[in-house]
Amino acid sequence: MTMRQIPQKLSGGLRRMTRRRGARKLLIGAGIAGSILITSCMTVNGPVVTLPANAAAPDATFVGSEECSYCHDDVTGGFHSASHARLGLRNEDGLMIGCEACHGPGSLHAENGGEIPGQIINPGDNPESCFQCHLDKKGQFHLPSAHPVMEGRVSCTDCHDPHKGSAIKGGGTALMSENQTCFQCHDAQAGPHIFEHEAMRDGCTTCHDPHGSVNDKMLKARNANLCLQCHMEVANPVGNVDTFHHGSRLGAGTCWSAGCHEAVHGSNSSSSLRY
Ligand code: HEC
Ligand code: HEC
Ligand code: HEC
Ligand code: HEC
Ligand code: HEC
Ligand code: HEC
Ligand code: HEC
Repeated sequence: MTMRQIPQKLSGGLRRMTRRRGARKLLIGAGIAGSILITSCMTVNGPVVTLPANAAAPDATFVGSEECSYCHDDVTGGFHSASHARLGLRNEDGLMIGCEACHGPGSLHAENGGEIPGQIINPGDNPESCFQCHLDKKGQFHLPSAHPVMEGRVSCTDCHDPHKGSAIKGGGTALMSENQTCFQCHDAQAGPHIFEHEAMRDGCTTCHDPHGSVNDKMLKARNANLCLQCHMEVANPVGNVDTFHHGSRLGAGTCWSAGCHEAVHGSNSSSSLRY
């Protein structure tokens, strides 16, 4: 897919949204972070946003989301609640580039009533149009341990909802629903277990990065540090909290591979989390 750069004015929505998730990285075209901070005056031109061009329909132009609603009101109807609706991207002509930010320019697709295949991008088949803004994720999916998104075996939409509600299924705060997303494909971790490991309540992403990691099994840390996020007493044994001195054990492998706490997701046989 080739990319075409067009200058965009950004509405206040993008700034609100970006502030909410403050620390997170996002790349829109060149240098957006800097640009967002200085576009407090909405009459000046916003940052350059790279919108997707469709190699299969090089002559297509942007028509705006309203055009899409004539045939896809099932999608447009709920879009106001979608995370990405808050982007509020408009092009120089004042057109709302909501749908086409991911689907690419839609004039030919709309003119032909959707009859000719390939005239509109479907990011469910190819995540490139997501990567134009979420470039950091592309890097992560190339790390040694990652979901096979680049291979087409898992799609962003298995875990994200682009059209309505929070793009993170279950939302940022409803952690059980976020885990449900993972249970669709990983039912072994779902339990129920007789001996629950309370860490699971904090969500799978406490220990795993679903986009990819340099560590085996997409782990956020490759050694005891993963567990020491919560079990500080193990690193600093103090009497009644941790009666077992771990010093010698930690050299024998990780907490889960040294033959001690291998059932990290919960156990049916042992309260110290063994199989
Ligand atoms: C005149 C009617 C019409 C308009 C206008 C229209 N579409 Fe479509 N679209 C269709 C039809 C028909 C299909 C094929 C059947 C289906 O999947 O619903 C389709 C399919 C699609 C698909 C799936 C394509 C695929 O290969 O899987 C996407 C994505 C899409 N449209 C997006 C859009 C967007 C974005 C707009 C606005 C820029 C738009 N459409 C405007 C009629 C239309
Ligand atoms: C954040 C990116 C994004 C935005 C914005 C977006 N879509 Fe989509 N759209 C997708 C993805 C990803 C898929 C593939 C869904 C799947 O594979 O389950 C998709 C699929 C579709 C389809 C194919 C049928 C379906 O539901 O799977 C249509 C039609 C469609 N989108 C229309 C729209 C319209 C109309 C808008 C604007 C109101 C819009 N999209 C906005 C990412 C987006
Ligand atoms: C035009 C740029 C753009 C495109 C294209 C785009 N995004 Fe986003 N997306 C953003 C911005 C800006 C945010 C808000 C800042 C942030 O949280 O990183 C965001 C936020 C998100 C979030 C977090 C939502 C939340 O509620 O916190 C997810 C998940 C996401 N995008 C996934 C996708 C997926 C999947 C695609 C492709 C189908 C996609 N994005 C395409 C710009 C884009
Ligand atoms: C296996 C599930 C899964 C897949 C596949 C997936 N994500 Fe995510 N993503 C998540 C979860 C869970 C979160 C929220 C927790 C977190 O922040 O790690 C998230 C958060 C995000 C966020 C917002 C927070 C951040 O880290 O910036 C963005 C943006 C995002 N994903 C983009 C994408 C894109 C783009 C794709 C496809 C190329 C994708 N994701 C594929 C599970 C997934
Ligand atoms: C659409 C199905 C699907 C969803 C949803 C899904 N995964 Fe996966 N997951 C996979 C596939 C496929 C693999 C790769 C397995 C392989 O290569 O054999 C995988 C691999 C993994 C691995 C590495 C396993 C290993 O043996 O190396 C972990 C950890 C993982 N997923 C965690 C998660 C988490 C956490 C979530 C939720 C945020 C999630 N997955 C959501 C399909 C999914
Ligand atoms: C307390 C940290 C932690 C939490 C929380 C966690 N995991 Fe894991 N997970 C691990 C560790 C450590 C491994 C590696 C185990 C090994 O190599 O023996 C692992 C391995 C996996 C694997 C690879 C298969 C296996 O069992 O070795 C999958 C799949 C997986 N986790 C999915 C999930 C899902 C889904 C969730 C949320 C419901 C989750 N994990 C929550 C620490 C965690
Ligand atoms: C998100 C926080 C968190 C993380 C990360 C975490 N744990 Fe836990 N773990 C808990 C809580 C809470 C308990 C229950 C209270 C307690 O016993 O300290 C617990 C209990 C345990 C127990 C005792 C279980 C029992 O029933 O006696 C073991 C063993 C354990 N964790 C091992 C691990 C290992 C190994 C890791 C790293 C793979 C890990 N934990 C990571 C929060 C966490």
